[in-house]
Amino acid sequence: MGGLFNDILGSGETLFKNDVALDFSFVPKLIPYREREQRTIAGCIKPLFNEKSGKNVFIYGQPGVGKTVALTKILEELQEETDEIIPVYINCWKHNTTYKIVIEICDMMDFKFVQNKKTEELFRWIKQNLNKKSVVFVFDEADKLEDFDFLYMILEEIYRKTIILINNYKDWIFELEDRIKSRLMPEIIEFKPYNYEETKGILKQRVEWAFVPNVLGNDAFELIAKKTFEMQDIRTGLYLMKQAGLIAEDKSSRKITLEHAQHALDKIKDFSIKSPEELAADEKLILDLVRQNSGKRIGDFFKIYQQSGGKLVYKSFQRKIDKLQKNRFIVVEKIAGGNEGNTTIIKDVSEKKLTEF
Ligand SMILES: Nc1ncnc2c1ncn2[C@@H]1O[C@H](COP(=O)(O)OP(=O)(O)OP(=O)(O)O)[C@@H](O)[C@H]1O
Ligand SMILES: [Mg+2]
Repeated sequence: MGGLFNDILGSGETLFKNDVALDFSFVPKLIPYREREQRTIAGCIKPLFNEKSGKNVFIYGQPGVGKTVALTKILEELQEETDEIIPVYINCWKHNTTYKIVIEICDMMDFKFVQNKKTEELFRWIKQNLNKKSVVFVFDEADKLEDFDFLYMILEEIYRKTIILINNYKDWIFELEDRIKSRLMPEIIEFKPYNYEETKGILKQRVEWAFVPNVLGNDAFELIAKKTFEMQDIRTGLYLMKQAGLIAEDKSSRKITLEHAQHALDKIKDFSIKSPEELAADEKLILDLVRQNSGKRIGDFFKIYQQSGGKLVYKSFQRKIDKLQKNRFIVVEKIAGGNEGNTTIIKDVSEKKLTEF
């Protein structure tokens, strides 16, 4: 019988050393291949150390290229370095209006008496307290913002600061209202997708954190790395490694094999879609309509969708739009200001390519 069960995983055993290391929100010790970008950003913050105002920054780049993680790291280091510069990180997807942002900042600063208070009142409190020190504001996923009054308020009334805005689209910054644009004058930094070697390097680092040594086979890793590079989104690799590990465990295997990785790849369809053939019928209808009507507002576009026989209610329709955007079939642009307030424009991704790349 000797050795017969060696390849079988015992019921209490696991292939993962620390599966948290594959979570999208995990912040590794080192953020390789972004040193140059981080140094530029640090340079913009540096004047704050001498009680001067910093430079503002606009960061753009595709999903999953390390924008959030690079900035998280900078804020962490800043916090370790000094008490004189306050880091304020806001995810604008969660906090998408001036009121919500002001509430969130109060919350961060442990100010409890926010109830029944107006935005202006709360901001006055924030201002008094933040102006005792310097501040680095990071507004991540800024394309989700519904209004920009908070930006104007910060630009005008917080003295020593660096404002960092992050989003997926370069154009966004040029479409901001003039009164904000002219005060912001940001340094513009692009986070380009990683090349194949860099993609592999990042995933390798995670393998060491996440798995028991030597369980992830080399050919399985290569397949996952290749797919990740193709998708240009590190999250693809993290997801695939986690799934492959779970599939191997499910089969009580002590190794994660090529077959397990392949199986994980088949699952990816729910997570990220590669070809239009794999879209569900309503998604396909929406995509076809976007291609015929690129550049329309979301509201007008919804009408066209209904006239073309689309059955989804507006909320579900919006979710489909989000999904198509996430998978980079279409481009969704928020445009601030204008006669009718904020508008959301839907564009065909191939049109964007022609004009911008
Ligand atoms: N250079 C890197 N080193 C280590 N991990 C990285 C690196 N770049 C990206 N990652 C990891 O990839 C995942 C996606 O990165 P991140 O969340 O920073 O993307 P993003 O550019 O902010 O994308 P989005 O535009 O969708 O918000 C995260 O789990 C992150 O830790
Ligand atoms: Mg991000």
